[in-house]
Amino acid sequence: MNGIPQGLEQKANEIILRYPPEHRNAALVPVLFEAQKSLGYLSPEVEAWAASTLGVTPVRVREVISFYSMMRREPAGKYHIMFCHNVACSMRGAESLQRYLESKLGIAAGEVTQDGLFSLAAVECLGACGWGPAMLVGEEQYFQLTQEKIDKILDELRQGRMPAGDSPTPLIGNVGLPTE
Ligand code: FES
Repeated sequence: MNGIPQGLEQKANEIILRYPPEHRNAALVPVLFEAQKSLGYLSPEVEAWAASTLGVTPVRVREVISFYSMMRREPAGKYHIMFCHNVACSMRGAESLQRYLESKLGIAAGEVTQDGLFSLAAVECLGACGWGPAMLVGEEQYFQLTQEKIDKILDELRQGRMPAGDSPTPLIGNVGLPTE
């Protein structure tokens, strides 16, 4: 089908096989994530293909895509940054850090840099409220952000290296939770 990345059909069929035939529509979310991984975003062609492949309405596909902030309907940069601007992170300085990040990238949330290297999205919650301010780059998560830490992450990415993300485990003591 036009506009469908090569190999996606086969990957989707493998995913669909994990579900009982009468519930193939339950594969919608993993199939959409697979499509996004292949294409970089979820185009109108992919939406239509997902609907017919899974036997759901196009409206249902759009509902699911709109619900999950990790799903994109627009092309993203090579490094897609999801920056949390929700309450817990805001109380720890996320607002000014977001402005700092925007100024470093030269874009506002929702935009892609001219060289296509970065895109930025302000998102609601990354489930790391105790370790905020937090952001995701691709699948790597970064916690307790500061301007210095953001500088370091961006520098590494500009050199084509993905810095190792943070794990919540060593940080648990920082918020007074038991470590065992
Ligand atoms: S509020 Fe930022 S991770 Fe939950």
